[in-house]
Amino acid sequence: MLLPVIMAGGSGSRLWPLSRQLFPKQFLTLHGNLSMLQATAARLESLEHQPPLIICNHEHRFSVAEQLRLSNSKHSGILLEPIGKNTAPAIALAAFHSLKKGYDPLMLVLAADHVIKDEKAFCNTVIEAIASADAGKLVTFGIVPTSAETGYGYIKRGHANGDNSVYKVDQFVEKPDLFTAERYLVSGEFYWNSGMFLIKASRYLEELKKFSSDIYNACERAISHINEDADFIRVDADAFSQCPENSIDYAVMEKTQDAVVVPMDCQWSDVGSWAALWEISDKDESGNACKGDVISVNCANSYFHSQEKLIAAIGLDDVVVVDTKDATLVAKKTDVQLVKKIVEQLKSEG
Ligand code: GDD
Ligand code: MG
Repeated sequence: MLLPVIMAGGSGSRLWPLSRQLFPKQFLTLHGNLSMLQATAARLESLEHQPPLIICNHEHRFSVAEQLRLSNSKHSGILLEPIGKNTAPAIALAAFHSLKKGYDPLMLVLAADHVIKDEKAFCNTVIEAIASADAGKLVTFGIVPTSAETGYGYIKRGHANGDNSVYKVDQFVEKPDLFTAERYLVSGEFYWNSGMFLIKASRYLEELKKFSSDIYNACERAISHINEDADFIRVDADAFSQCPENSIDYAVMEKTQDAVVVPMDCQWSDVGSWAALWEISDKDESGNACKGDVISVNCANSYFHSQEKLIAAIGLDDVVVVDTKDATLVAKKTDVQLVKKIVEQLKSEG
């Protein structure tokens, strides 16, 4: 049986000032009427699956529980990390927890902060991948790249596995430099890693033990003493604090010989910047995407987002303006990645 494991522990600083430490990207409503987390749970509707297991930082537990309650999404628990250790340990906790409960599910590992416009294509591709994951493969879902993004993993497609659209992974390279990403893009042989995986819990743990035994051991200890109350599952904080930090991509996917990739064509975006959000938003005839109270005159190809006040803009091209209660971002659309510098500066000023 399929167990969706929704990873909702990221900090999402690239969408500051809307995304904050206590209310990061996965809880924002950026596209459609649901928050990113709610949309992640809702898009599973046409798959046969167990209620998802959510894994997040304990400081976000009430936001997660409340958002799922509001959207009537069932879940099979909210696993709380006392401290974020990135995705390899998060997925290990989910896998150990299931095995401890006496079953070995196919974990459909999902990020809580992606936009997927074609949900039918998403579900169909997951269904296509089930046989391979059942056979012990570590399945990744590949997106055809459209630019030399350096914030993604790249997957080199190998030979086809049988006659369906499942390919061996010849190489998995997490977050290459720009030069390498450009080479991969023009070669036409690489997919972006979507950051979603389909893996049997026991297979994930076997590979993690092989390549990152320190993470495996720390997570095994952390899950050996759990404390469950109402929706929340708490792990042993001392044991988990000893766990090294790493992502599944570096800790397992770059190293395993047993990965396959299934191409996914579902209008996916990880909404990694204000420019990416502009790309996927509905726009007026001048290419402006406006959210909230906005009047624009002679503006083009811009993103305006107001939480409370009116934004009035005149004669602006290719800009991003995001106004919240206590901060306003004004940026050139091509420079929005630099928002992380502002967040760093704010953090260092305390
Ligand atoms: N529970 C939990 N704990 N979740 C986490 C943690 C953690 O410590 N860290 C990150 N997450 C969640 C995030 O909320 C997000 O939903 C997902 O895990 C992926 O983490 P990101 O931090 O957003 O990863 P990334 O975007 O840099 O890279 C990954 O995704 C790319 C596609 O968006 C990689 O898998 C790349 O290879 C991939 O291309
Ligand atoms: Mg991401």
